[in-house]
Amino acid sequence: MKEVNISYPISQIQYTKPQRKKLKERLNFGIMYQHPRIYDFTIWLNDPSGLMPKTLAKSIVGNSVLDLGCGTATLQTFLPKGVQYIGVDLNEDFLVFADKKNRGTFYKRDVIGDLSDLKADTVVLADILHHIPPNHQKLIENAINCAQKKVVISACYEKEEGPFKQISEFIGRRFIDNDGLNEQREGAGWLKLDELLQFLVINGATNFQKVLSHIHCEINI
Ligand SMILES: C[S@@+](CC[C@H](N)C(=O)[O-])C[C@H]1O[C@@H](n2cnc3c(N)ncnc32)[C@H](O)[C@@H]1O
Repeated sequence: MKEVNISYPISQIQYTKPQRKKLKERLNFGIMYQHPRIYDFTIWLNDPSGLMPKTLAKSIVGNSVLDLGCGTATLQTFLPKGVQYIGVDLNEDFLVFADKKNRGTFYKRDVIGDLSDLKADTVVLADILHHIPPNHQKLIENAINCAQKKVVISACYEKEEGPFKQISEFIGRRFIDNDGLNEQREGAGWLKLDELLQFLVINGATNFQKVLSHIHCEINI
């Protein structure tokens, strides 16, 4: 696959068919990230009625959406027709898969890099904050700077202590939800519910709702 120039949408890059990844390379990714279809299937298993993307889509304002850490662009299919959709991610396989649906513009960019050239009425952070520690403050600042009207967030939190907490979290982070991009994550852990709420409130979030295992909220600009 050709190296992607980050200034260009992924659709403008000429791709050669990606070669099958070697087993050693595959071990860098959790099960969910082995293939975009496997990712979509695990998302469907957890949320078969699409409650999370539907809740996000209802919170969208204006005519344009910037989805930071868009994955396979699940959200896009739930948006009203006519809303311009821009997806940003670092996973090329996911971006190419999402781009084939031909319903948006996709960029291979780091969500904690300089995004000052990207603007949209609503910026979405869907299930990405827990991938980014210790840079989650930078990500939320990027989202606020790119948003012209609103930031919409869906975030998970660490479950309470229990006898199998450490082992289940290790398996989750290392073998299931390991995006292969954020090495620090394995040891970093994530915020508990009270810590997450505090982090979001400090950044101006309001309208909190619990949607399945996630906290949904908004920051009005
Ligand atoms: C759990 S998935 C969420 C995907 C999508 N928002 C959804 O709700 O289905 C997290 C996504 O963040 C992406 N990601 C992680 N770190 C990133 C980074 N530093 N820059 C861009 N994308 C990143 C991963 O590639 C992955 O697609």
